[in-house]
Amino acid sequence: MRIGFYRKGSPIKVLVTGVAGFIGSNLAHELLCRGIDVVGIDSITDYYDPAVKWANLARLKQPAFDFVQGDLNLLDLGSLIDDSIEVVFHLAGQPGVRKSWGEGFASYTRANVEATQRILEAALGRSQQMKFIYASSSSIYGEAETYPTTESALPKPFSPYGVTKLAGEHLVSLYSANYGLPATSFRFFTVYGPGQRPDMAFTRFLRAADTGEEIVVYGSGEQIRDFTYVGDIVDALIRAGLTDSDIPRVMNLSGGASVSVLDVLTTIAEIVPRSLNVRKAQPARGDVFRTGGDSSLARRSLGWTPSVSLREGLGKQYEWVRSG
Ligand code: UGA
Repeated sequence: MRIGFYRKGSPIKVLVTGVAGFIGSNLAHELLCRGIDVVGIDSITDYYDPAVKWANLARLKQPAFDFVQGDLNLLDLGSLIDDSIEVVFHLAGQPGVRKSWGEGFASYTRANVEATQRILEAALGRSQQMKFIYASSSSIYGEAETYPTTESALPKPFSPYGVTKLAGEHLVSLYSANYGLPATSFRFFTVYGPGQRPDMAFTRFLRAADTGEEIVVYGSGEQIRDFTYVGDIVDALIRAGLTDSDIPRVMNLSGGASVSVLDVLTTIAEIVPRSLNVRKAQPARGDVFRTGGDSSLARRSLGWTPSVSLREGLGKQYEWVRSG
């Protein structure tokens, strides 16, 4: 018998979309470790090497995990979100700020807006209430007017990606307001750690540092991010999913240390026993100069606090890079 979270005599069962991705697979792994049944959906797009996603899924293989490979825009979601599901963690989406221009934009509206509307519609067709948790993004703020930025700041996305994440978030809020669906959107601030996507800064920097290849910095490297460790994000998601209390509809999740890309490289130089080969390139369109979130709402509402420092988290990500 598994030891875990039980309600009404049977294990809690949740659904995770984007389960083969970076955050989804880390979340599903932790849920399974806690004895929760997980149904995972992923379409395994080729935005980055699908082998990475299959490797993430291999880590989840166990009887309490059911995997459905499919596109949220095509699947029969009503039958997947049946009354046995208590929480939907909707993490699927088309990520990446820098690729959301030009023809690429269509995949962002499809994955981040249309699929979100479809899954929300499916969530209404149930006789039992369930919770809906959505992965939003710090990208919805754009160049914020104040730092640390609170949830009440005016959203002003600076990239097409940010527009689609904000549209998805608004859909979640309006379905919640119209139909009484208990839903929360979390605005994640640049998430890193083991399993991070291969197109993101830390994975690229650590891989290049490890092999002596060139590290490409977009712009001056003075841009600031409020990097957040993936284990802390997973902790907040699980707290929100399992609490019986009413929680706010929108919350920031940020690590709390705003550091520049150059600061990150200084830390990497302390961790990796090799001199770094850094080249500066053109700034990337859509990249904001600074993100910095105020997470006090999540602290108050969930008792959540980020626990992994940048130095510690980068060390863990470096171990992961080396093991791969
Ligand atoms: C990340 C994610 O990719 C988005 O999906 C997410 O929604 C977003 O965080 C967010 O928090 O809203 P980003 O901050 O661009 O976006 O994440 P990284 O790829 O880790 O980039 C961090 C910084 O490093 C950026 O300023 C970027 O321009 C820079 N960078 C990245 C480089 O200088 N070189 C690289 O090779 C990659």
